[in-house]
Amino acid sequence: MKLYVAMVGLPARGKSTLAKRIRSGLEQQGIRTAIFNNGELRRMLFGLESGSAEFFNPDNTRAQRLRDQITHQNMERARAWLDEGGDVAIIDATNGTVHQRVDLSATLRDRPVLFIECVNDDPLLLDASIRRKTRLPEFANMTQEEALESFRKRLAYYESVYTPVRKERCWIRVDAVDSCIQDEAPSNDLPYYAAIRDIISSRWVQDLYLVRHGETDYNREGRLGGDPSLTAKGIEQAEKLAAHFDGVDLPYIFTSTKQRSAETAAPLLRSRPNTISMALSEFDEINAGVCEGMRYSDVRDGMPLEYEARSHNKYGYIYPNGESYAMLKERVARGLRRALFLSGEGTLMIVGHQAINRTLLSLFLFQRASDVPYTYIPQNQYYHITITQRRKLFEMIRYA
Ligand code: F6P
Repeated sequence: MKLYVAMVGLPARGKSTLAKRIRSGLEQQGIRTAIFNNGELRRMLFGLESGSAEFFNPDNTRAQRLRDQITHQNMERARAWLDEGGDVAIIDATNGTVHQRVDLSATLRDRPVLFIECVNDDPLLLDASIRRKTRLPEFANMTQEEALESFRKRLAYYESVYTPVRKERCWIRVDAVDSCIQDEAPSNDLPYYAAIRDIISSRWVQDLYLVRHGETDYNREGRLGGDPSLTAKGIEQAEKLAAHFDGVDLPYIFTSTKQRSAETAAPLLRSRPNTISMALSEFDEINAGVCEGMRYSDVRDGMPLEYEARSHNKYGYIYPNGESYAMLKERVARGLRRALFLSGEGTLMIVGHQAINRTLLSLFLFQRASDVPYTYIPQNQYYHITITQRRKLFEMIRYA
């Protein structure tokens, strides 16, 4: 039983991340899987020449011929690998036109082909993914701005000829940010179909470290929200956090837009020049509206009805001009989807806040909604979460 999987999608839509996830999930089940990436082959064969946008101009016949050659060479490598004992060969390329997909099916007639199309319309993610692409070796002789311009032009060329899957026999369309299947042509007779479907639609993260920011004056005084800095103790906690993670590769650190979150991440970033750090407002602490900056005791004494209402239904209670935990769920889930997508579902850290981390945890746990606002989120411990096909891990680790 052998299968070709052909990825489909415009550049920067998450095809390679999904291809890697499928490979890892299948390999864990003993199914030998390999990825054949058109882009890597192109870079190997044509290097800097393929950094030019004109290499992707559909009207450039010479470049078109070269790109066809690469595609065919890549397909032959995939076929040879299956002949030699592999089970699933994933062809990671845009495969964005009907003509290319007809050609692929005709060339790889020897075994069934499953097309997996990745879509992603989130402008923030697209922009971040495009910026990341400018680090590719084919742009080595360009400035960041030139690389960006070239990549955007390349994208436009791809878009001008792109057609979504539809007419192909077996296909799945995946929302790459949400890890969910949007549409599909039922392909139950395909080998490994159910396993692949399962891998696509499951949540997946290699290592997520969920940290709360260090201590602030507001924490000491029992005040809500605001944008305070860390206290001396908070800075010490941040230093201890960095020492604890010494030697651990952290390619992505996400913070909120608040100072206390950035300051907690700062010592970690000091020794990691290659780490990508991003502040996402989705991870900003719950907005306490008119109660921002007040002490819990001020709210209790000065606004007894509000205090009572929140004590009665902490999950559903909306601060006047602010938010509730129930409202947080949507924005925090969006932040998590973005963070997971940007980090390629690998290793990432999120430095959040009390209510934010409670909400993040609830997205992984079977919790009653009414329990979410009471989850214990100390400032000297973090959660480590791993969710893959084989391993589901949830641990709390002390660092200070
Ligand atoms: O007290 C720190 C804090 O992060 C506040 O800024 C925020 O309003 C609060 O925790 C959220 O926790 P709770 O929902 O228990 O009040």
